[in-house]
Amino acid sequence: MTSTPPPRTLAEAQEALRRRERELAEAGRQIAELSRELSDADHGLIALHTELEEARGAAARLAAIVVASGDAVISIDPLRTIQTWNPGAARLLGHDADAIVGRSADELLPEGALPAFEDALAGAAAGEHAEPVETRWHRADGGLVDVSVTVSAMRGSDGAVTGYAIVAQDIGRRLVLQSELAAARAEREVMADRERIARDLHDMVIQRVFAAGLTLQSVTALLDHDRAVDRIDGVVGELDATIEELRNAIFDLHRAPQQATSLRAQIFDAASAARRPLGFAPTVTFDGPVDTAIPQEVGVHLLAVLREALSNIGKHAKASAAEVVLDTGTELLLTVSDNGRGLGPGTRRSGLANLRERATQLGGTFEVTGRPGGGTRLAWRVPLTGHPGGSDRP
Ligand SMILES: Nc1ncnc2c1ncn2[C@@H]1O[C@H](COP(=O)(O)OP(=O)(O)OP(=O)(O)O)[C@@H](O)[C@H]1O
Ligand SMILES: [Mg+2]
Repeated sequence: MTSTPPPRTLAEAQEALRRRERELAEAGRQIAELSRELSDADHGLIALHTELEEARGAAARLAAIVVASGDAVISIDPLRTIQTWNPGAARLLGHDADAIVGRSADELLPEGALPAFEDALAGAAAGEHAEPVETRWHRADGGLVDVSVTVSAMRGSDGAVTGYAIVAQDIGRRLVLQSELAAARAEREVMADRERIARDLHDMVIQRVFAAGLTLQSVTALLDHDRAVDRIDGVVGELDATIEELRNAIFDLHRAPQQATSLRAQIFDAASAARRPLGFAPTVTFDGPVDTAIPQEVGVHLLAVLREALSNIGKHAKASAAEVVLDTGTELLLTVSDNGRGLGPGTRRSGLANLRERATQLGGTFEVTGRPGGGTRLAWRVPLTGHPGGSDRP
């Protein structure tokens, strides 16, 4: 403010006073303006502070979620170096954060999985919607764990990718449940099929065999030739036996298939199932390991052979005792012996031929011989090392 000379007249003094008043009014206006601006700035600062607090709160909430998550949540930089590693990742993959942060995420991937992982990162960087990918990751102990992996890109304020957030969920349990469910469904279908076959056998086959037997029986009344009557009675007897076998088969069909029982248990089961048609229980002896020594494919054949051998004893031998012995070493030897009437000249059908065929298919041999003192001995022998792969169906 410039100093003005003192007024010399009253008019000058009044003029000076008015000027001063104007100056003061202007200063007042400027002060008011300034204080308004100051107050605006203050409000801006408060808003900024609130925003900052909210951002801090959100970051803290996010961190708490990441820490508490049961899933592995990790972040990597654009060169795939691991930056953060949550407790879920430590639990699932076995590495502590201290040990793994700074190492490459490629270490988690099993052989051959890198291209798919790179594709997922590229997709996230391009802003594509990330679908979870089911894969396997390495654990610290060298094992593999089934995971569902979702990748998303993290970006700076300019939109450039600063890294990736990766969530890996343990799906091992789910996969087990899925396969159990599929097995249960398949079993239900098999059971439905078995029920249908059992029904057809009962309603159609048994009734027809039964009717054929009745017809034959009625024919005997018309015959006066004793040998013819005997022969027909024999055939009727066979038909009755067939009906009995069909009933057994129907009974078996109604039973749920055995759940992954050991081969040893299945051998015992086959022997005890033969008790009814035989009228006595065959003895079963094992010489050597069973489940660890016999490949599944051989086991399937072995059970079929055992069932046919026991069924033959029931049908043909008229025995009072039978013995099953399973010997395992470099080869498997199944012998089934009975004390019955021995091999007669009877009509040879498919049973024994099938047993030979099953042995040949596995590179083994089959022989059926009479026993000194009566009875029959059947020996089914297959190598246990490097047998040729046969059909997996019995
Ligand atoms: N343990 C046994 N004791 C006495 N004879 C037997 C014995 N095993 C088989 N046989 C005789 O050998 C024949 C051939 O047996 P195989 O199993 O090949 O035919 P099947 O039992 O008569 O008919 P399929 O098995 O085809 O239903 C039988 O018909 C029977 O005469
Ligand atoms: Mg037979």
